[in-house]
Amino acid sequence: MRAYEGAPDGAMTTGKLITFEGGEGSGKSTQARQLAERLGAANISTIVTREPGGAPLAEKIRDLVLSDRPAAAVTELLLFAAARAEHIAVTIAPALGAGTWVVCDRYIDSSRVYQGDIGGIDKAFIRAIEQQTVTPWFPDLTLVLDVGAKVGMERAQARGGLTRFDAASLAQHEQVRQGFLDLAMAEKDRCVVLNGAEPEAEVAEAVWKAVTERLIATAG
Ligand SMILES: Nc1ncnc2c1ncn2[C@@H]1O[C@H](COP(=O)(O)OP(=O)(O)OP(=O)(O)O)[C@@H](O)[C@H]1O
Ligand SMILES: [Mg+2]
Repeated sequence: MRAYEGAPDGAMTTGKLITFEGGEGSGKSTQARQLAERLGAANISTIVTREPGGAPLAEKIRDLVLSDRPAAAVTELLLFAAARAEHIAVTIAPALGAGTWVVCDRYIDSSRVYQGDIGGIDKAFIRAIEQQTVTPWFPDLTLVLDVGAKVGMERAQARGGLTRFDAASLAQHEQVRQGFLDLAMAEKDRCVVLNGAEPEAEVAEAVWKAVTERLIATAG
């Protein structure tokens, strides 16, 4: 985990937090599983988890939010923030503290993009909540899987998790994609953008290269 100024005692750990971000159908869940397997094979104790969810109460919040989409974007922001706080307290922080690596399918950047860029919530407010709920458990590495809107939506549709596939949702998917690219550009030390349109095995290689170069080569 990164050392942050003002981080509480005991926050320095040997576990690393790796997050996958990107739009629907970009391959996050697929690559998160594969990376966790590969880390395990390299004898690095690893768990894979996801957001919203990843802890009992957080999974209940996930069910609430995904079954009954809130009318107000701010409701979604606060519920996701609450779920994340539980996820960190129950799952992420204890794992990192024990030296286990955590691979997480969506995290802070999804809140920034979906509630900020799409939901229109003031970004300073989103960052303020993030500071209060996430600090010091920011990702060591964020892998942004980038695919065009059409590819992502076709994949999500083929998987059966998508009902809307119209011009408006394509435009929104493109806005989400741009939101992730902008965030990655603004935080190059933390984020790597990978071409998610390549075949699964090639994306997995690119993921592994980023992880070994950024984290394993410097771990110790
Ligand atoms: N590189 C790839 N090439 C072709 N198909 C892929 C690739 N990666 C994943 N898929 C397939 O695309 C679908 C979506 O992938 P996945 O579920 O990993 O995306 P996701 O980013 O987790 O999506 P969501 O945000 O909706 O959870 C799955 O059916 C998966 O098997
Ligand atoms: Mg997924």
